[in-house]
Amino acid sequence: MSNILECRSLSFNYGDGNSKTSVLKNLDFRVKTEERIAIIGQSGCGKSTLLNLLAGLDMPSQGEVLIDNKNIANMKERQRTELRAKNLGFVYQFHHLLKDFSAIYNTALPLLINDFDKNEALTKAENILKKVGLESRTNHKPSELSGGERQRVAIARAMITEPACLLADEPTGNLDERNAKDILDLIIELNSNQHTALLIVTHDLSIANKMSRQLELTDGHLNER
Ligand SMILES: Nc1ncnc2c1ncn2[C@@H]1O[C@H](COP(=O)(O)OP(=O)(O)O)[C@@H](O)[C@H]1O
Ligand SMILES: [Mg+2]
Repeated sequence: MSNILECRSLSFNYGDGNSKTSVLKNLDFRVKTEERIAIIGQSGCGKSTLLNLLAGLDMPSQGEVLIDNKNIANMKERQRTELRAKNLGFVYQFHHLLKDFSAIYNTALPLLINDFDKNEALTKAENILKKVGLESRTNHKPSELSGGERQRVAIARAMITEPACLLADEPTGNLDERNAKDILDLIIELNSNQHTALLIVTHDLSIANKMSRQLELTDGHLNER
């Protein structure tokens, strides 16, 4: 299996001098094709910081990040954006859907902003909304959907580009227990059916236990559990 994401001797600090906070210390870590990984840790330990670095949304203080075996350090922002769009999908705790757009347009957005044929994009969005159980909600706007349904649209939007790896930051953190379980099952199902690797950040051990590998982030270090 090849690596989709990799970091080498990765460190990250906020601030410098007296106000320097060292959040991540010398991490070495890989995500392989179709792998299913949980990163757990207390609130504030640096989980979101790590995901942002792995996605190339932030740059490390030290060390390297490779997406699809390509070192992103010396790339132009545009190349980095393309590499990210081609390989990674994102789901966050809050859905970040555009409020004036219906579910189908929110889902199709990653394709539409890349000049994908509009009709093809909408057909694809319709199909993937069916997969996440929202075929009867395609024309609803976020305000007309429940919390669980909004998160399903966010997952559909992340999956429409068929990413090699889905990065999920507390994806069920905002949902009740029932919806949280359904959303997690859906993410795992998509991971199996579409052969997408999964890196899920959570402080919920019941979620972490459903992943094949669990890593714990404490004091800036990442350890297998
Ligand atoms: N922009 C920032 N400037 C300074 N410190 C920050 C900033 N963003 C986050 N932090 C600090 O970095 C640490 C890690 O934050 P974060 O990655 O969001 O943690 P987690 O996702 O595990 O809750 C926290 O102590 C937080 O207060
Ligand atoms: Mg966080």
